[in-house]
Amino acid sequence: MSRFSEPQDPVFRRLNASLSFDRRLWPYDIAQSRAHARMLAAQDIIGDDDRDELLAALDAVEAELVEGAFDFDRDDEDIHMAIERRVTEIAGPVGGKLHTARSRNDQVATDVILFTRDAAGHATRAIDALVAALLDAAEAHLDWPLPGYTHLQRAQPVYLSHHLLAYVWMLLRDRERFVFAEAQMAALPLGAGALAGVNFDTDRAAVATELGFERVAPNSIDAVSNRDFVLDYLAAAATCATHLSRLGAELVLWSSEEFGFVTLADAWTSGSSIMPQKKNPDAAELLRAKAPRIVAHLSALHGVMHALPLTYNKDMQEDKEHLFDTVDTLDLCLAAAAGMIRSARFHRDRMSAAASDDLIAATDVADHLVRAGVPFRECHGIVAGLVRVAVDSGRHLADLSDDELAGASDRLGPAEFRGLLAQSAWLESKVSEGGTSLARVREQLAAARAAQQPV
Ligand code: ARG
Repeated sequence: MSRFSEPQDPVFRRLNASLSFDRRLWPYDIAQSRAHARMLAAQDIIGDDDRDELLAALDAVEAELVEGAFDFDRDDEDIHMAIERRVTEIAGPVGGKLHTARSRNDQVATDVILFTRDAAGHATRAIDALVAALLDAAEAHLDWPLPGYTHLQRAQPVYLSHHLLAYVWMLLRDRERFVFAEAQMAALPLGAGALAGVNFDTDRAAVATELGFERVAPNSIDAVSNRDFVLDYLAAAATCATHLSRLGAELVLWSSEEFGFVTLADAWTSGSSIMPQKKNPDAAELLRAKAPRIVAHLSALHGVMHALPLTYNKDMQEDKEHLFDTVDTLDLCLAAAAGMIRSARFHRDRMSAAASDDLIAATDVADHLVRAGVPFRECHGIVAGLVRVAVDSGRHLADLSDDELAGASDRLGPAEFRGLLAQSAWLESKVSEGGTSLARVREQLAAARAAQQPV
Protein backbone atom coordinates (compact mmCIF):
# COMPACT_ATOMS: atom_id res chain seq x y z
CA MET A 1 0.00 0.00 0.00
CA SER A 2 1.04 3.56 -0.47
CA ARG A 3 -0.12 6.90 0.74
CA PHE A 4 -0.13 8.14 -2.84
CA SER A 5 -2.70 7.62 -5.55
CA GLU A 6 -0.51 8.50 -8.50
CA PRO A 7 3.15 8.07 -9.36
CA GLN A 8 5.61 10.92 -9.01
CA ASP A 9 5.88 13.25 -11.94
CA PRO A 10 9.12 12.48 -13.79
CA VAL A 11 10.19 16.11 -13.49
CA PHE A 12 9.62 16.03 -9.75
CA ARG A 13 11.58 12.81 -9.58
CA ARG A 14 14.54 14.47 -11.22
CA LEU A 15 14.27 17.54 -9.03
CA ASN A 16 13.97 15.49 -5.87
CA ALA A 17 16.57 12.82 -6.46
CA SER A 18 20.01 13.21 -4.92
CA LEU A 19 21.48 9.87 -5.89
CA SER A 20 23.58 11.32 -8.69
CA PHE A 21 25.67 13.18 -6.14
CA ASP A 22 25.06 11.60 -2.75
CA ARG A 23 26.15 8.14 -3.88
CA ARG A 24 29.66 9.02 -2.71
CA LEU A 25 28.34 8.87 0.84
CA TRP A 26 27.97 5.10 0.59
CA PRO A 27 30.96 4.11 2.76
CA TYR A 28 29.54 6.20 5.60
CA ASP A 29 26.02 4.89 5.07
CA ILE A 30 27.25 1.30 5.29
CA ALA A 31 29.36 2.03 8.38
CA GLN A 32 26.47 3.63 10.24
CA SER A 33 24.08 0.84 9.23
CA ARG A 34 26.48 -1.75 10.63
CA ALA A 35 26.78 0.14 13.92
CA HIS A 36 23.02 0.66 14.01
CA ALA A 37 22.24 -3.05 13.39
CA ARG A 38 24.67 -4.15 16.10
CA MET A 39 23.14 -1.70 18.56
CA LEU A 40 19.58 -2.82 17.73
CA ALA A 41 20.52 -6.43 18.50
CA ALA A 42 22.47 -5.55 21.64
CA GLN A 43 19.37 -3.75 22.90
CA ASP A 44 17.11 -6.70 21.96
CA ILE A 45 15.22 -4.53 19.48
CA ILE A 46 16.01 -7.07 16.75
CA GLY A 47 17.28 -10.65 17.12
CA ASP A 48 20.92 -11.65 16.83
CA ASP A 49 20.06 -13.71 13.76
CA ASP A 50 18.43 -10.62 12.18
CA ARG A 51 21.58 -8.67 12.90
CA ASP A 52 23.77 -11.34 11.31
CA GLU A 53 21.64 -11.42 8.19
CA LEU A 54 21.71 -7.62 7.96
CA LEU A 55 25.48 -7.51 8.44
CA ALA A 56 26.00 -10.19 5.80
CA ALA A 57 23.78 -8.27 3.38
CA LEU A 58 25.65 -5.05 4.13
CA ASP A 59 28.93 -6.86 3.40
CA ALA A 60 27.54 -7.99 0.06
CA VAL A 61 26.30 -4.51 -0.79
CA GLU A 62 29.65 -3.03 0.15
CA ALA A 63 31.43 -5.50 -2.11
CA GLU A 64 29.15 -4.54 -5.02
CA LEU A 65 29.77 -0.84 -4.42
CA VAL A 66 33.54 -1.32 -4.18
CA GLU A 67 33.59 -3.27 -7.43
CA GLY A 68 31.27 -0.83 -9.17
CA ALA A 69 28.84 -3.72 -9.64
CA PHE A 70 26.01 -2.19 -7.60
CA ASP A 71 22.92 -1.95 -9.74
CA PHE A 72 21.35 1.44 -9.10
CA ASP A 73 17.65 1.54 -9.85
CA ARG A 74 16.01 4.47 -11.55
CA ASP A 75 13.57 4.57 -8.64
CA ASP A 76 16.36 4.99 -6.05
CA GLU A 77 15.88 8.53 -4.78
CA ASP A 78 19.07 8.71 -2.77
CA ILE A 79 21.93 6.54 -1.57
CA HIS A 80 20.15 5.65 1.67
CA MET A 81 17.14 4.20 -0.17
CA ALA A 82 19.33 2.49 -2.74
CA ILE A 83 21.33 0.65 -0.08
CA GLU A 84 18.24 -0.30 1.93
CA ARG A 85 16.54 -1.61 -1.23
CA ARG A 86 19.53 -3.76 -2.09
CA VAL A 87 19.92 -5.04 1.49
CA THR A 88 16.30 -6.15 1.34
CA GLU A 89 16.77 -7.81 -2.06
CA ILE A 90 19.70 -9.77 -0.66
CA ALA A 91 18.46 -10.51 2.88
CA GLY A 92 14.73 -10.75 2.19
CA PRO A 93 12.09 -9.19 4.49
CA VAL A 94 14.56 -8.90 7.39
CA GLY A 95 16.16 -6.09 5.38
CA GLY A 96 13.15 -4.02 6.35
CA LYS A 97 14.29 -4.17 10.00
CA LEU A 98 17.40 -2.09 9.33
CA HIS A 99 15.44 1.13 9.41
CA THR A 100 13.96 0.38 12.85
CA ALA A 101 14.50 3.31 15.22
CA ARG A 102 16.07 5.39 12.45
CA SER A 103 14.85 8.07 10.07
CA ARG A 104 16.48 9.32 6.92
CA ASN A 105 16.80 12.62 8.77
CA ASP A 106 19.23 11.37 11.40
CA GLN A 107 20.71 8.99 8.84
CA VAL A 108 21.66 11.69 6.37
CA ALA A 109 22.94 13.99 9.10
CA THR A 110 25.18 11.14 10.25
CA ASP A 111 26.50 10.34 6.78
CA VAL A 112 27.27 13.98 6.10
CA ILE A 113 28.98 14.58 9.43
CA LEU A 114 31.15 11.48 8.93
CA PHE A 115 32.05 12.62 5.42
CA THR A 116 32.84 16.18 6.52
CA ARG A 117 34.92 14.98 9.45
CA ASP A 118 37.08 12.93 7.09
CA ALA A 119 37.32 15.88 4.70
CA ALA A 120 38.53 18.19 7.46
CA GLY A 121 41.19 15.67 8.47
CA HIS A 122 42.23 15.34 4.86
CA ALA A 123 42.49 19.12 4.47
CA THR A 124 44.78 19.44 7.50
CA ARG A 125 47.09 16.80 6.04
CA ALA A 126 47.13 18.51 2.65
CA ILE A 127 47.93 21.81 4.37
CA ASP A 128 50.78 20.10 6.24
CA ALA A 129 52.26 18.97 2.92
CA LEU A 130 52.09 22.48 1.47
CA VAL A 131 53.54 23.99 4.65
CA ALA A 132 56.44 21.52 4.42
CA ALA A 133 57.07 22.54 0.80
CA LEU A 134 57.05 26.24 1.71
CA LEU A 135 59.35 25.71 4.68
CA ASP A 136 61.85 23.81 2.54
CA ALA A 137 61.72 26.58 -0.07
CA ALA A 138 62.19 29.24 2.63
CA GLU A 139 65.20 27.39 3.99
CA ALA A 140 66.71 27.05 0.52
CA HIS A 141 66.34 30.79 -0.21
CA LEU A 142 67.09 32.20 3.20
CA ASP A 143 69.03 35.29 2.11
CA TRP A 144 67.69 35.96 -1.38
CA PRO A 145 66.50 39.60 -1.51
CA LEU A 146 63.49 40.72 -3.50
CA PRO A 147 61.29 43.79 -3.27
CA GLY A 148 58.39 43.64 -0.87
CA TYR A 149 55.37 45.39 -2.41
CA THR A 150 52.47 47.47 -1.28
CA HIS A 151 49.95 48.52 -3.92
CA LEU A 152 52.13 46.35 -6.18
CA GLN A 153 54.71 49.16 -6.03
CA ARG A 154 58.18 48.37 -4.77
CA ALA A 155 58.14 49.26 -1.09
CA GLN A 156 60.91 47.73 1.00
CA PRO A 157 63.21 44.83 0.27
CA VAL A 158 62.69 41.53 2.06
CA TYR A 159 64.17 38.06 1.85
CA LEU A 160 62.35 35.45 -0.19
CA SER A 161 62.35 33.19 2.88
CA HIS A 162 60.46 35.88 4.79
CA HIS A 163 57.89 36.22 2.01
CA LEU A 164 57.36 32.45 1.75
CA LEU A 165 57.02 32.19 5.52
CA ALA A 166 54.11 34.64 5.36
CA TYR A 167 52.18 31.91 3.52
CA VAL A 168 53.24 29.35 6.11
CA TRP A 169 51.60 31.37 8.90
CA MET A 170 48.45 31.88 6.83
CA LEU A 171 48.23 28.14 6.24
CA LEU A 172 48.89 27.27 9.86
CA ARG A 173 45.90 29.45 10.77
CA ASP A 174 43.88 27.68 8.08
CA ARG A 175 44.87 24.40 9.65
CA GLU A 176 43.51 25.54 12.99
CA ARG A 177 40.23 26.45 11.34
CA PHE A 178 39.90 22.89 10.02
CA VAL A 179 40.80 21.50 13.44
CA PHE A 180 38.05 23.71 14.89
CA ALA A 181 35.62 22.41 12.29
CA GLU A 182 36.58 18.84 13.20
CA ALA A 183 35.91 19.59 16.85
CA GLN A 184 32.39 20.68 15.88
CA MET A 185 31.78 17.16 14.59
CA ALA A 186 32.23 15.26 17.84
CA ALA A 187 28.55 14.60 18.57
CA LEU A 188 26.57 11.79 16.88
CA PRO A 189 23.22 12.79 15.29
CA LEU A 190 22.02 9.19 14.81
CA GLY A 191 19.33 8.15 17.23
CA ALA A 192 17.45 11.42 16.93
CA GLY A 193 14.97 9.70 14.64
CA ALA A 194 12.88 11.99 12.47
CA LEU A 195 13.23 14.78 15.04
CA ALA A 196 11.76 13.77 18.40
CA GLY A 197 13.72 10.68 19.33
CA VAL A 198 12.52 7.11 18.77
CA ASN A 199 10.11 4.73 20.46
CA PHE A 200 12.82 2.26 21.45
CA ASP A 201 15.39 2.05 24.21
CA THR A 202 18.39 2.56 21.97
CA ASP A 203 22.03 2.85 23.04
CA ARG A 204 23.29 5.91 21.22
CA ALA A 205 26.57 5.94 23.12
CA ALA A 206 27.49 2.53 21.70
CA VAL A 207 26.85 3.73 18.16
CA ALA A 208 28.85 6.90 18.88
CA THR A 209 31.82 4.86 20.06
CA GLU A 210 31.73 2.54 17.06
CA LEU A 211 31.61 5.49 14.65
CA GLY A 212 34.35 7.44 16.43
CA PHE A 213 32.25 10.19 18.03
CA GLU A 214 33.07 11.54 21.48
CA ARG A 215 29.43 11.89 22.50
CA VAL A 216 25.85 11.92 21.27
CA ALA A 217 24.03 15.05 20.16
CA PRO A 218 22.03 16.05 23.25
CA ASN A 219 18.94 17.41 21.47
CA SER A 220 17.17 15.37 18.80
CA ILE A 221 15.65 18.48 17.20
CA ASP A 222 19.05 20.15 16.89
CA ALA A 223 20.64 16.89 15.76
CA VAL A 224 18.59 16.65 12.57
CA SER A 225 18.51 20.42 11.93
CA ASN A 226 22.21 21.02 12.35
CA ARG A 227 24.44 21.69 9.36
CA ASP A 228 26.76 24.09 11.21
CA PHE A 229 29.61 21.67 10.74
CA VAL A 230 29.30 21.94 6.95
CA LEU A 231 29.33 25.73 7.23
CA ASP A 232 32.39 25.52 9.48
CA TYR A 233 34.18 23.29 7.00
CA LEU A 234 33.20 25.54 4.07
CA ALA A 235 34.28 28.66 5.95
CA ALA A 236 37.68 27.15 6.70
CA ALA A 237 37.95 26.08 3.05
CA ALA A 238 36.93 29.51 1.77
CA THR A 239 39.64 31.29 3.74
CA CYS A 240 42.23 28.69 2.82
CA ALA A 241 41.32 28.89 -0.88
CA THR A 242 41.50 32.68 -0.66
CA HIS A 243 45.04 32.36 0.67
CA LEU A 244 45.92 30.02 -2.17
CA SER A 245 44.52 32.54 -4.64
CA ARG A 246 47.04 35.09 -3.41
CA LEU A 247 49.87 32.59 -3.78
CA GLY A 248 48.59 31.74 -7.26
CA ALA A 249 48.40 35.41 -8.20
CA GLU A 250 51.98 35.99 -7.09
CA LEU A 251 53.22 32.99 -9.01
CA VAL A 252 51.48 34.31 -12.12
CA LEU A 253 53.13 37.71 -11.72
CA TRP A 254 56.51 36.41 -10.71
CA SER A 255 56.72 33.92 -13.56
CA SER A 256 55.98 36.63 -16.14
CA GLU A 257 58.76 37.92 -18.40
CA GLU A 258 58.33 41.31 -16.70
CA PHE A 259 59.15 40.04 -13.23
CA GLY A 260 61.21 36.95 -14.08
CA PHE A 261 61.50 36.02 -10.40
CA VAL A 262 60.55 32.39 -10.86
CA THR A 263 60.28 29.68 -13.46
CA LEU A 264 57.48 27.21 -12.89
CA ALA A 265 58.20 23.59 -13.75
CA ASP A 266 56.89 22.46 -17.12
CA ALA A 267 54.76 19.92 -15.27
CA TRP A 268 52.62 22.77 -13.91
CA THR A 269 52.30 24.84 -17.07
CA SER A 270 50.82 24.48 -20.50
CA GLY A 271 51.44 25.71 -24.02
CA SER A 272 49.39 27.90 -26.30
CA SER A 273 47.48 26.41 -29.20
CA ILE A 274 48.68 29.20 -31.49
CA MET A 275 51.79 30.85 -30.03
CA PRO A 276 54.61 28.29 -29.92
CA GLN A 277 56.81 30.34 -27.58
CA LYS A 278 54.30 30.44 -24.76
CA LYS A 279 54.41 28.71 -21.41
CA ASN A 280 51.33 29.58 -19.43
CA PRO A 281 51.03 29.37 -15.63
CA ASP A 282 47.54 27.82 -15.82
CA ALA A 283 47.77 26.00 -12.50
CA ALA A 284 48.66 29.22 -10.69
CA GLU A 285 45.89 31.07 -12.52
CA LEU A 286 43.40 28.42 -11.45
CA LEU A 287 44.54 28.68 -7.82
CA ARG A 288 43.61 32.33 -8.22
CA ALA A 289 40.21 31.63 -9.78
CA LYS A 290 38.99 28.63 -7.77
CA ALA A 291 38.72 30.56 -4.51
CA PRO A 292 35.56 32.54 -5.33
CA ARG A 293 33.84 29.31 -6.29
CA ILE A 294 34.45 27.92 -2.81
CA VAL A 295 33.37 31.20 -1.23
CA ALA A 296 30.20 30.94 -3.34
CA HIS A 297 29.51 27.45 -1.98
CA LEU A 298 29.79 28.82 1.55
CA SER A 299 27.52 31.69 0.70
CA ALA A 300 25.02 29.37 -1.00
CA LEU A 301 24.73 27.11 2.03
CA HIS A 302 24.24 30.13 4.27
CA GLY A 303 21.40 30.97 1.91
CA VAL A 304 19.94 27.47 2.15
CA MET A 305 20.02 27.47 5.95
CA HIS A 306 18.89 31.06 6.35
CA ALA A 307 15.49 31.36 8.08
CA LEU A 308 14.89 27.63 7.63
CA PRO A 309 12.34 26.49 10.18
CA LEU A 310 13.36 23.55 12.37
CA THR A 311 13.85 20.69 11.79
CA TYR A 312 14.75 18.81 8.61
CA ASN A 313 13.62 20.41 5.36
CA LYS A 314 14.36 19.10 1.91
CA ASP A 315 16.26 22.32 1.32
CA MET A 316 19.04 20.71 3.31
CA GLN A 317 19.66 18.20 0.55
CA GLU A 318 21.31 21.18 -1.13
CA ASP A 319 24.20 21.00 1.36
CA LYS A 320 25.88 18.19 -0.53
CA GLU A 321 26.94 19.52 -3.89
CA HIS A 322 28.39 22.64 -2.28
CA LEU A 323 30.26 20.47 0.17
CA PHE A 324 31.47 17.89 -2.33
CA ASP A 325 32.65 20.40 -4.89
CA THR A 326 34.49 22.32 -2.18
CA VAL A 327 36.24 19.20 -0.92
CA ASP A 328 37.33 18.23 -4.43
CA THR A 329 38.37 21.73 -5.44
CA LEU A 330 40.33 22.46 -2.30
CA ASP A 331 42.05 19.10 -2.46
CA LEU A 332 43.26 19.82 -6.00
CA CYS A 333 44.34 23.36 -5.16
CA LEU A 334 46.36 22.39 -2.09
CA ALA A 335 48.10 19.59 -3.98
CA ALA A 336 48.81 21.85 -6.97
CA ALA A 337 50.22 24.59 -4.75
CA ALA A 338 52.56 22.13 -3.04
CA GLY A 339 53.64 20.68 -6.38
CA MET A 340 54.35 24.12 -7.86
CA ILE A 341 56.31 25.33 -4.85
CA ARG A 342 58.38 22.15 -4.68
CA SER A 343 59.36 22.40 -8.34
CA ALA A 344 59.68 26.19 -8.78
CA ARG A 345 63.09 27.64 -9.68
CA PHE A 346 63.65 31.13 -8.27
CA HIS A 347 66.02 33.59 -9.94
CA ARG A 348 68.29 35.33 -7.50
CA ASP A 349 69.71 37.80 -10.03
CA ARG A 350 66.32 39.07 -11.18
CA MET A 351 64.92 39.40 -7.71
CA SER A 352 67.94 41.14 -6.26
CA ALA A 353 68.19 43.51 -9.25
CA ALA A 354 64.59 44.54 -8.62
CA ALA A 355 65.40 45.04 -4.94
CA SER A 356 68.54 47.07 -5.48
CA ASP A 357 67.02 50.25 -6.89
CA ASP A 358 68.12 52.56 -4.09
CA LEU A 359 64.76 54.36 -3.92
CA ILE A 360 63.69 51.33 -1.95
CA ALA A 361 65.96 52.58 0.88
CA ALA A 362 63.93 55.77 1.35
CA THR A 363 62.43 54.60 4.66
CA ASP A 364 65.90 53.76 5.96
CA VAL A 365 67.18 57.24 5.10
CA ALA A 366 64.21 58.77 6.88
CA ASP A 367 64.86 56.62 9.95
CA HIS A 368 68.52 57.69 9.86
CA LEU A 369 67.36 61.29 10.26
CA VAL A 370 65.05 60.22 13.09
CA ARG A 371 68.11 58.96 14.93
CA ALA A 372 69.66 62.39 14.46
CA GLY A 373 66.68 63.81 16.37
CA VAL A 374 64.46 64.98 13.49
CA PRO A 375 60.73 64.12 13.98
CA PHE A 376 59.67 61.33 11.64
CA ARG A 377 57.03 63.35 9.77
CA GLU A 378 59.66 65.95 8.91
CA CYS A 379 62.13 63.24 7.80
CA HIS A 380 59.45 61.78 5.54
CA GLY A 381 59.15 65.16 3.79
CA ILE A 382 62.90 65.65 3.46
CA VAL A 383 63.43 62.23 1.88
CA ALA A 384 60.36 62.57 -0.34
CA GLY A 385 61.95 65.76 -1.70
CA LEU A 386 65.25 63.96 -2.38
CA VAL A 387 63.39 61.14 -4.14
CA ARG A 388 61.63 63.67 -6.33
CA VAL A 389 64.90 65.36 -7.30
CA ALA A 390 66.46 61.97 -8.11
CA VAL A 391 63.46 60.71 -10.11
CA ASP A 392 63.01 64.00 -12.01
CA SER A 393 66.67 64.04 -13.02
CA GLY A 394 66.84 60.33 -13.81
CA ARG A 395 69.43 59.60 -11.13
CA HIS A 396 69.80 57.19 -8.24
CA LEU A 397 69.59 58.55 -4.71
CA ALA A 398 73.28 57.73 -4.31
CA ASP A 399 74.10 60.09 -7.22
CA LEU A 400 72.74 63.19 -5.47
CA SER A 401 75.46 65.76 -4.81
CA ASP A 402 76.69 66.83 -1.39
CA ASP A 403 75.11 70.24 -2.04
CA GLU A 404 71.76 68.72 -2.86
CA LEU A 405 71.91 66.68 0.34
CA ALA A 406 72.93 69.64 2.44
CA GLY A 407 70.11 71.65 0.85
CA ALA A 408 67.60 69.06 2.02
CA SER A 409 68.82 68.83 5.60
CA ASP A 410 71.86 69.81 7.63
CA ARG A 411 71.59 66.54 9.55
CA LEU A 412 72.17 64.38 6.45
CA GLY A 413 75.93 63.57 6.35
CA PRO A 414 76.77 62.58 2.73
CA ALA A 415 79.05 59.73 3.79
CA GLU A 416 76.48 58.18 6.12
CA PHE A 417 73.77 58.75 3.53
CA ARG A 418 75.67 56.86 0.84
CA GLY A 419 76.70 54.17 3.30
CA LEU A 420 73.07 53.54 4.06
CA LEU A 421 72.34 52.89 0.44
CA ALA A 422 74.31 49.64 0.53
CA GLN A 423 71.77 46.94 -0.17
CA SER A 424 72.39 44.65 2.75
CA ALA A 425 71.84 47.49 5.18
CA TRP A 426 68.27 47.92 3.92
CA LEU A 427 67.47 44.35 4.81
CA GLU A 428 69.65 43.81 7.82
CA SER A 429 68.40 46.98 9.46
CA LYS A 430 64.96 45.39 9.93
CA VAL A 431 65.88 43.95 13.29
CA SER A 432 62.49 44.12 14.98
CA GLU A 433 60.76 40.88 15.94
CA GLY A 434 59.09 39.39 12.86
CA GLY A 435 61.20 41.61 10.59
CA THR A 436 63.30 40.71 7.59
CA SER A 437 66.84 40.77 9.03
CA LEU A 438 68.41 37.34 8.65
CA ALA A 439 68.61 36.69 12.36
CA ARG A 440 64.90 37.44 12.71
CA VAL A 441 63.98 35.29 9.71
CA ARG A 442 66.03 32.41 11.13
CA GLU A 443 64.17 32.81 14.40
CA GLN A 444 60.86 32.83 12.54
CA LEU A 445 61.79 29.77 10.50
CA ALA A 446 62.59 27.87 13.69
CA ALA A 447 59.25 28.92 15.18
CA ALA A 448 57.42 27.81 12.04
CA ARG A 449 59.28 24.49 12.03
CA ALA A 450 58.20 24.02 15.65
CA ALA A 451 54.57 24.78 14.77
CA GLN A 452 54.66 22.49 11.74
CA GLN A 453 52.91 19.12 11.95
CA PRO A 454 54.79 16.07 10.66
CA VAL A 455 53.70 15.14 7.14
N1 ARG B 1 18.38 12.80 0.27
C1 ARG B 1 17.97 13.45 1.47
C2 ARG B 1 18.98 14.56 1.81
O1 ARG B 1 20.01 14.52 1.29
C3 ARG B 1 17.94 12.46 2.58
C4 ARG B 1 17.03 12.84 3.71
C5 ARG B 1 15.63 12.73 3.28
N2 ARG B 1 14.73 12.89 4.37
C6 ARG B 1 13.46 13.15 4.18
N3 ARG B 1 12.73 13.33 5.21
N4 ARG B 1 12.97 13.26 2.98
O2 ARG B 1 18.70 15.43 2.60
